[in-house]
Amino acid sequence: MSLAEDPEWWRHAVVYQIYPRSFADANGDGIGDIPGILSRVGYLRDLGVDAVWLSPFYPSALADGGYDVDDYRDVDPRLGTLDDFDAMVAALHELGIRVIVDIVPNHTSNRHEWFREALASPPGSAARDRYIFRDGLGPDGSQPPADWISLFGGPAWEPVGDGQWYFHLFAREQPDLNWDNREVRDDFLTTLRFWSDRGVDGFRIDVAHALAKHLGEELPDQATLDELPREGGHPLWDRNEVHDIYAEWRQVFNEYSPPRTAVAEAWVEPHRRPRYASPEGLGQAFNFDLLEADFDGDAFRRVVDFNLDLAAQSGSSSTWVLSNHDVVRHATRYGLALPDDPDERRGAAWLLAGGPEDELDRERGLRRALAATLFLLGLPGSAYLYQGEELGLHEVADIPADQRQDPTFFRNPGVDVGRDGCRVPIPWEREGPSFGFGAGAPHLPQPAWFEDHAVSAQDGDPDSPLALYRAALRLRRELRTAEELEWVESSGQLVHFRRPNGWEVATNFGSEPVALPEGEVLLASSPVQGFLLPAETTVWLRRSR
Ligand code: NOJ
Ligand code: CA
Repeated sequence: MSLAEDPEWWRHAVVYQIYPRSFADANGDGIGDIPGILSRVGYLRDLGVDAVWLSPFYPSALADGGYDVDDYRDVDPRLGTLDDFDAMVAALHELGIRVIVDIVPNHTSNRHEWFREALASPPGSAARDRYIFRDGLGPDGSQPPADWISLFGGPAWEPVGDGQWYFHLFAREQPDLNWDNREVRDDFLTTLRFWSDRGVDGFRIDVAHALAKHLGEELPDQATLDELPREGGHPLWDRNEVHDIYAEWRQVFNEYSPPRTAVAEAWVEPHRRPRYASPEGLGQAFNFDLLEADFDGDAFRRVVDFNLDLAAQSGSSSTWVLSNHDVVRHATRYGLALPDDPDERRGAAWLLAGGPEDELDRERGLRRALAATLFLLGLPGSAYLYQGEELGLHEVADIPADQRQDPTFFRNPGVDVGRDGCRVPIPWEREGPSFGFGAGAPHLPQPAWFEDHAVSAQDGDPDSPLALYRAALRLRRELRTAEELEWVESSGQLVHFRRPNGWEVATNFGSEPVALPEGEVLLASSPVQGFLLPAETTVWLRRSR
């Protein structure tokens, strides 16, 4: 089918997230690049993904891995050129793979021309109005306008030397934009058209729930801010009028045929997620519930029921995510003992302790991860995979402090080591200075155990994670059916559902085998023998009715 023929492609797509600086390095400077992606399109075709989502590849000083954008309508010269980008899109489209790019509208980088202009302009100027500036407190403005703490740790207000301070939700290199400013709004419409005109099929919207803000004259203190309900009227988060912005974006998306798509990164009260996924808005929203769920049958089933219900409310399809560039890889999360504090970011304490090997059961973590992935790929809706998970990669824990890059590491000494461990360049070959990532040393150090996970080590091995992913994606296409699911059984340990065409998915979340449900086994996340479904294993079955 040609790409143009299926405007609903996003409803059931398997989207593969590429973190461009860590995917493939064509010129050997240690940084993954667009020509590197181009050189690996055959890999993406063989994997069988429907689309790729590229994390930011725009010019950036990398204060936050590229989520600090200097220019929204260009390619970082270290990663290539716009011509390279066009060539990559053409090659992917040729293979039937769609392209989603990341839009970072909450903040620019501090090197963006607008921010430079704001710093060079006086308080009250039009240039400052594109951002969120406030006078400091005290006679000389030397005190911050409020005691707010940024999400990356440390103060959220930064002085500029003339009595004014600017607001940043994230790092100080990421000043927040003022979305009440018409010029800001128009410029993003230009950006959406810019990439849509280049053939981009969809957009992933960073921090989609924070654009609209209402700070007012009197700023509350942090403690008050934390207590305020996030039900549409919070000064910073998930304000109702953020959807006016996306209604405008939707008009732009619909200028194209097929309409461009979008998926919101919106960490909101779950019942408010459908607003983002509405067809008048972004159309789809990430469901991150599985990032926080343990490998537990009841938890998984609850997440599924809840999210299918949310999807029905918006008319969108649900999304499913187990890993991305912000969280500890799911093979590692599932190989650690459960955290004492269920609210703790999973795996964070282990990373902080330096990743003690005796606390991680690598084999079990991977086994569970593959079972969870196969479960997720059987669900109705769209699945987002993160580069390297198909290789069974674990989180890299032992990155020396002087090689770390994530600002959350630098802003939270002794508290958080950050997200570099899931952003290490992926291994393509068993050998070479960067396991085939490129001809030079990689920008983040790779551990020796990457060797066994290399693509070349798994190619042709039918028992490898890569082979399982390939087989699963191929079968998933063949088995595609109406977006419905019926539970057959869920006993806590065994969770078993059926899709309308007789495709059945059964996962044994427990540590003992259970009886294998009836039917022809199409695929299994670990070897099935006889009539037992092994521990921590998913099977896909076909049952003729
Ligand atoms: C969410 C992105 O996924 C994350 O990587 C980034 O640090 C923040 N947004 C800020 O842009
Ligand atoms: Ca490079």
